[in-house]
Amino acid sequence: MSRSNRPQGRRTVRYAGLTLLAAAMATTAAAAADAPAASHTVTYDRHSLIIDGKPTYIWSGSFHYWRLPSPELWKDVLQKMKAAGFNAVEIYFDWGYHSPKRGVYDFTGIRDVDRLLDMARDVGIYVIARPGPYINAETDAGGFPGWLVNTAGKPRSTAPEYTAAYREWMTAIDAILARHQVTDGRGTVLLYQVENEFYNDSDDGRAYMQALEDKARADGITVPLFGNHNTNFFDGVGKLDMPGYDSYPMDFDCTRPERWNSVYDFASEREGLKHTPLFFPEYQGGAFDVWGGPGYEACRKLTGPEFERVFYEATMASGSTMQNFYMTYGGINWGWLSSPGVYTSYDYGAAITTSRQLTSKYDQQKLLGYMIHAAPSLARTDAVGSAVAENRRLRVNARINPDDGTRFYILRHAEAADTTNDATHLSITLRDAGAIRIPQAPGTDLRVNGRDSKVLLADAHIGQQDLAYSTSELLTQLHTGGRDIAVFYGRDGEDGETVLRYAGQPEVKVLDGQVASAWDEKAHMLRLNYRHHGLSRVTITQGEHSLLLLLGDNEAATRFWQLDTAAGPVLLRGPYLARSATPSGDTLALTGDTDKASELEVFAAPDVRTVTWNGKPIQTSRTASTTLLGKLDGPAPVTLPTLHDWHIANSAPEIETTFDDHAWQAANKTSTPNPYWEHQLPILDSDDYGFHHGHVWYRGHFKATGKETSIRLSASMGVHLGNHGIFTAWLNGHFLGNNPSGSQQFPIDPSWLKKGGDNVVAVLVENTGHLQEEHNGAFREMRGLMSATLQGSQAPIAWKLQGNVGGEDLPDPVRGPFNIGGLYGERKDWHLPGFSDAAWAKTTLPHATDKPGVDWYRTTFTLDIPKNQDVPIALRIRDAAPHHYRAIIFINGWQIGRYISDVGPQTDFELPAGLLNPQGKNTIAIAAWSTAQDGGLGEVSLVMQGNYLTGHW
Ligand code: GAL
Repeated sequence: MSRSNRPQGRRTVRYAGLTLLAAAMATTAAAAADAPAASHTVTYDRHSLIIDGKPTYIWSGSFHYWRLPSPELWKDVLQKMKAAGFNAVEIYFDWGYHSPKRGVYDFTGIRDVDRLLDMARDVGIYVIARPGPYINAETDAGGFPGWLVNTAGKPRSTAPEYTAAYREWMTAIDAILARHQVTDGRGTVLLYQVENEFYNDSDDGRAYMQALEDKARADGITVPLFGNHNTNFFDGVGKLDMPGYDSYPMDFDCTRPERWNSVYDFASEREGLKHTPLFFPEYQGGAFDVWGGPGYEACRKLTGPEFERVFYEATMASGSTMQNFYMTYGGINWGWLSSPGVYTSYDYGAAITTSRQLTSKYDQQKLLGYMIHAAPSLARTDAVGSAVAENRRLRVNARINPDDGTRFYILRHAEAADTTNDATHLSITLRDAGAIRIPQAPGTDLRVNGRDSKVLLADAHIGQQDLAYSTSELLTQLHTGGRDIAVFYGRDGEDGETVLRYAGQPEVKVLDGQVASAWDEKAHMLRLNYRHHGLSRVTITQGEHSLLLLLGDNEAATRFWQLDTAAGPVLLRGPYLARSATPSGDTLALTGDTDKASELEVFAAPDVRTVTWNGKPIQTSRTASTTLLGKLDGPAPVTLPTLHDWHIANSAPEIETTFDDHAWQAANKTSTPNPYWEHQLPILDSDDYGFHHGHVWYRGHFKATGKETSIRLSASMGVHLGNHGIFTAWLNGHFLGNNPSGSQQFPIDPSWLKKGGDNVVAVLVENTGHLQEEHNGAFREMRGLMSATLQGSQAPIAWKLQGNVGGEDLPDPVRGPFNIGGLYGERKDWHLPGFSDAAWAKTTLPHATDKPGVDWYRTTFTLDIPKNQDVPIALRIRDAAPHHYRAIIFINGWQIGRYISDVGPQTDFELPAGLLNPQGKNTIAIAAWSTAQDGGLGEVSLVMQGNYLTGHW
């Protein structure tokens, strides 16, 4: 705990090139500490979470700050989520990320969780906190710290050693979470998850859960405690306030992205919950991809907008009011953060890409998120059986709010995978009018395309308007400038019918598009019929009631943005992204992003006369809809430099017999606290010597008899789980070979041996991460060399090993425990920008080598991106054909990528701004490990992934 409360900036920053991060660290919002703590109540019933007495639909997305090592960008992601209508963000807190050594906890710089939670508060988004202790998450050891490998005690149990360890973590993280709680802190932490997918229902499992819950409460956690343990911990010892279900209906195989699974109906789970809402702490938001996999665009397709619409609406149909999507922004397994099996990008095929770009999945999320916000009655509904689709290929679920009578009809194909485009009429029941068949207009129908779904509203109040029903879907509604504005939408070319009730015949004015209206005097209903295409506009006035009704197709709908301000909501149309709106006097100050020159239409009160965008006044004119219309600039074109002036150093001196390893640790331990694996003696497991991440070198010395014929080497890289770890070995400087499976006998050429002299076996082993725990302690599986035996001789081998400098005592705590391993260049700071490579040879890329070993390549480049532009940039490695090498990539000292030429699939590695300097000099260092005689390094270039004029910086 020694460092947990250390003030910002006291650490001596040893390395050059950290200015960006240091500056970022210095801006921690100290001001927030003085803000008055407003306390709120968080309760729940069988329908929903209830915040300050208000039933609230929770629409949430997962984000891992530790997969985005640039705090400035956290806010960008949170704002983008908020802008899409998410009212919550779900966050795992990764124990291992904060604790390089027992008793050492770091919450500064890129680990500044206080700052993250302040940002969430400032953005106005609730936080669903998931501090583990175990988190899974495709990360090293499922979030357990490296040092936990070397402890005894069954993980996720009441074992005393494990208990003492996790209590350290909880004390540290709970103290931070507690001061950001909605209930009695000064933040937006709304819920607290205990453990992760823990299915151990034994006495000990329950006692463990209870101990975690007691600890959280003792640490001052006052928000409801929940879990994602499916049917577990509903009652008895370990009972949680709110149980929850995780669901990944598409699974994780992205190789067949057209595949479509059936929809599981959670209605019976809903019925089984007597006191809590149907909560999905993880509902599928994408899928992880594996080494050699098809890449993340395939995962985005597998879990695309159609999937989102059908499956997310199906959970609404079964009565869920709390849904979190895993992931909404996936991020980067930078350094050695990943568990074995997954590669650097954790893009997850999510709604927001790793490079923070918005996708069609984001657009779809936004359509649903806005509707949930616009129809708060959805937070409290019961199933009713009162709707029938005439076309039996389709199925309808009807729900009604028992308090205000709002009805919801969720319509899709009975067989979710169906791809036919079907038309139907629906029989629904309306207040006063009773049963009615819709749409009513002759010659029109209600269509449901294959793999589509719709949520239709009836008997709903939209501001002061009384909606009988609509076959279009509600996007949003607001009251501003003395009138209601409502946006409904549907698929391009499909019919729409919207019926509103009025006391007397209203005045209808079609401002744009073709909309027919019919007044039914007897029923007091105004019926509008139209075809969704572009954006139609209608004003409807009757007495005090005034409505601007906007009817769009999906494309038009996604171009709307609604922002909250102290003076009420504001609706915008046009730009790529809208981030914030601040009214002052007759001026509305807006911020946001454009990807090209765009229209900006502002639907605000008439007293708003001036609009600024990212601080600049925008010329506007008044439209027939009494809105303000202006133009926004797009970004200036940007060109990226080509990379040249590469310097190269051959850098695996450990291979040579002459290398001096006297300072290395001797691998001579004969006992270990690690209870899990049977070790051969002496213990070679690198974890036992404090080297938990990255590459480890072993050098074994033996006196040769001259009769040695071969050597069997075994290493553990977790290869059985689709991992692609490898080791390479040399004898007296001669290449023995490589092995990707764990164990191999390598023949020895007699001429290589020094009879009676010191012979050296050098082995470079990759530790691709510790397994996720898998409920049995497998994260303690050893890493590194396991055993070595000579054939033809009994000569003992004395081993020494070297991993990352300092082991658990990090010389570079800013970049932290996962950044580097034990390659020679890493030990000599060659990855850092301050290192001088002037003495290295010059080279060009691609560069081929027939010499197995490690080569380092370095170059610098200068960027001059305009300060108000957000230009996500990736580093690309291109090999004309796969070669036997793998590379680790550093930008300004940060390891942001692991590339395996002969495995793939990742070739583009994000360089997040903050690590990358967009306005100045940058240093790239690449360590390329040739694992056979056809290694080297491919072509390396910078790739622009997008270009936005932004209000973010
Ligand atoms: C869940 C787990 C998450 C993550 C996900 C797959 O079971 O709780 O942490 O691993 O699977 O991405």
